[in-house]
Amino acid sequence: MNQTGESRSSEPVPDSAEAGFFLVFEGPEGSGKSTQARVIAETLERTGRQVLLLREPGGTAIGERVRTLILDPASYAMLPETEALLYAAARAQLVGEQIRPALSAGTVVVCDRFVDSSLAYQAGGRGLAMVDVRAIQQLATGGLRPDLRILLDLPVRIGLRRRLADHQQVNRLDTADIAFHERVRDCYGNLARQDPAGWIVLDATMPPERLAATIAAAVVDRLRDRDEARSLAANDGGAS
Ligand SMILES: Nc1ncnc2c1ncn2[C@@H]1O[C@H](COP(=O)(O)OP(=O)(O)OP(=O)(O)O)[C@@H](O)[C@H]1O
Ligand SMILES: [Mg+2]
Repeated sequence: MNQTGESRSSEPVPDSAEAGFFLVFEGPEGSGKSTQARVIAETLERTGRQVLLLREPGGTAIGERVRTLILDPASYAMLPETEALLYAAARAQLVGEQIRPALSAGTVVVCDRFVDSSLAYQAGGRGLAMVDVRAIQQLATGGLRPDLRILLDLPVRIGLRRRLADHQQVNRLDTADIAFHERVRDCYGNLARQDPAGWIVLDATMPPERLAATIAAAVVDRLRDRDEARSLAANDGGAS
């Protein structure tokens, strides 16, 4: 398992995990998505699950090239529409090349950002029509939805301060104004409120270890429910 999408679990895959599980981390800049995605991927691997850790935009050779183009400071003239389509293009490649095959093989896919990032940034932040941004997601993903999204929520200034403390992480998006990031955060909040069963919202100002423990407990719980439902369905199928 790594950021370019190889699976490196050497453990046997339990039968119960056969249909996979799709876990997505969302949230504003510097909220700890990459940190927590890495930790939960390692935690699940230790329990014998096969895990694929991916990031957006990227996770495929083509997607990483799109990522470079989007995040390059030289792309300052990029229009919101162009940006939205490029994110969707990278996502289409990721879904087709990595996510769907992994889910079919029973892998837990942990993705650092997915569709809701486009809704929050391109619709909420940049002001494109939500209906348009949703429409291109349908093309990119074929309607694939995460089994669970974790929203790491924190005040915008705290997240940006964390990012700016790490110069290697600075990219074109850091120059956008605070109001933009506030709109992104608000949009994430609305998305989570509209689908409470699909999201877990966490206070990302908590220390990383506490966040990791909360996330692990929630994900293990969901996976157990999922496994139980599948084995019941399999037994029912066998009886009829
Ligand atoms: N819970 C936390 N408390 C304090 N600092 C944290 C916490 N989680 C992560 N950090 C630090 O904040 C910075 C950003 O973390 P990380 O890269 O995981 O966030 P991110 O959400 O992936 O950011 P980005 O939006 O830039 O991709 C890193 O320097 C990381 O070590
Ligand atoms: Mg990150």
